[in-house]
Amino acid sequence: MSKSITERRLAAAGQPLGKGLVADDPVDQFASWFQQAAEAELFQHNAMALATAAAGGRPSARMVMLEAFDQHGFVFYTSSKSRKAAELAENQWAALVFNWGPLYRQVRVEGQVDQLDEEACRRYFRQRSRDHQLQFYASVQGEPVNSREALIQRRQQIEEQFGEESLPHPPDFSGYRVVPYMIDFWQARQDWLHDWLRYQRQPGGAWSLERLSP
Ligand SMILES: Cc1cc2nc3c(=O)[nH]c(=O)nc-3n(C[C@H](O)[C@H](O)[C@H](O)COP(=O)(O)O)c2cc1C
Repeated sequence: MSKSITERRLAAAGQPLGKGLVADDPVDQFASWFQQAAEAELFQHNAMALATAAAGGRPSARMVMLEAFDQHGFVFYTSSKSRKAAELAENQWAALVFNWGPLYRQVRVEGQVDQLDEEACRRYFRQRSRDHQLQFYASVQGEPVNSREALIQRRQQIEEQFGEESLPHPPDFSGYRVVPYMIDFWQARQDWLHDWLRYQRQPGGAWSLERLSP
């Protein structure tokens, strides 16, 4: 008989996390936790907080969706006219946080951010639903707008303009990759001596791993 959601959450939550128990590569370890978060049916388990900072150092944070990840980094998509994009253009450093609360887990990623090439953005845009695509044309992220009606009207104009045609990739729709130099895994334990492991990329490219005090 298949396990209930509660059983799967309990099985993952509070499990010890130690140097001998994790993968050598933090992205493999992330993949394992990410899969467990999906199996536990956590709401929007691919949502992550993204922190950026302008050149002057003032930080800002918001949620974005993790759309892909591999050994090269963690990918999200957004408008290149947004505040986050403007800050990343000034200052490439960014941080991500995943909070998988019901599993008592947190993952933190820090790194430098690269913009994806146009072909990758085009490919991703093509896979989006028509409504999602229209939204990118009808709204400039972060720009003040008089009313919701104004947005709806703009979307109608775009729909009429393109009819049945497929929507071309808008140039300000862009993908970004956080290339990690540090990935932290945090697992709460019942006795409050929580487990916290930090991987850091070394100059030669290998990852170091250490336990930190909670
Ligand atoms: C769960 C969640 C997921 C989101 N995912 C994205 C996303 O993938 N891309 C995006 O541009 N905005 C996303 N947003 C909206 C952002 O949080 C934010 O409001 C928007 O990108 C503007 O941010 P900025 O002005 O700091 O650039 C999401 C919001 C929530 C609550």
